[in-house]
Amino acid sequence: MSGLDHRRLAPEILDGLAADDPRALASRRDLRRINMLMFQAPIMASLLRKFVAKPPRRILEIGAGDGRFMLAVARRMARHWPEVELVMLDRVELVTAQLRADFDRLGWKIDGITADVFDWAGTVERKPFDAITVNLFLHHFDDAELVRLFSLMAPKAPLLLATEPLRAKLALAATRLLPAIGANDVTRNDAAQSVRAGFRGSELSGLWLAARGKPIEERRAGLFSHIFVGAGADPTI
Ligand SMILES: C[S@@+](CC[C@H](N)C(=O)[O-])C[C@H]1O[C@@H](n2cnc3c(N)ncnc32)[C@H](O)[C@@H]1O
Repeated sequence: MSGLDHRRLAPEILDGLAADDPRALASRRDLRRINMLMFQAPIMASLLRKFVAKPPRRILEIGAGDGRFMLAVARRMARHWPEVELVMLDRVELVTAQLRADFDRLGWKIDGITADVFDWAGTVERKPFDAITVNLFLHHFDDAELVRLFSLMAPKAPLLLATEPLRAKLALAATRLLPAIGANDVTRNDAAQSVRAGFRGSELSGLWLAARGKPIEERRAGLFSHIFVGAGADPTI
């Protein structure tokens, strides 16, 4: 037993801090660098290119944070996917005028929703989404919560694409190097916690199946990431 055989969840410090807390602001800046070091945006962009057949009109991002991850994804996709409407949901309000302007320049319109994902998921959307993207978010929830989240999300779009932490020794070891990039105490704690709560094997596929969805792809990506793509529940079944 490596201690990583099973998911271990503990509350992340960032989730308990106010949006304008200086430690939270610093940690969100660290997160941008961590996303870069993990190659999360190129990994998500490659999944979108592979699985979303035609240019989407509407994408939903859950647990969007400060939106900078999806901005990095949009920069890779905008040439082929103009005029996307991106709805970014997070329980903390983080959409700024600068972020809106950055997306505007790419031709993407953003709409921020400040809500807990479970509270919001019960609302009926007036227009359908073509895809749901998720980055470093699913690992916040235990397996029962994930089945509930997947059951709520699967009917909202034909595809859900996730880039999450890989639960592996190398990834955990890498979190010990975070002081080298100046990461603060919040980031150092939450990064290690995220790896312990992360995924491996076909864990997300099992949970997606339990939510009556159809798993499409699940695997390790790069050194530190674990990806999952699931198709929404087939209404004919
Ligand atoms: C690790 S951060 C990742 C943010 C972003 N995806 C990124 O890559 O920068 C997780 C985000 O999930 C949000 N979050 C946690 N629990 C949530 C919930 N129940 N509903 C909505 N957002 C939540 C937090 O506020 C935080 O912004």
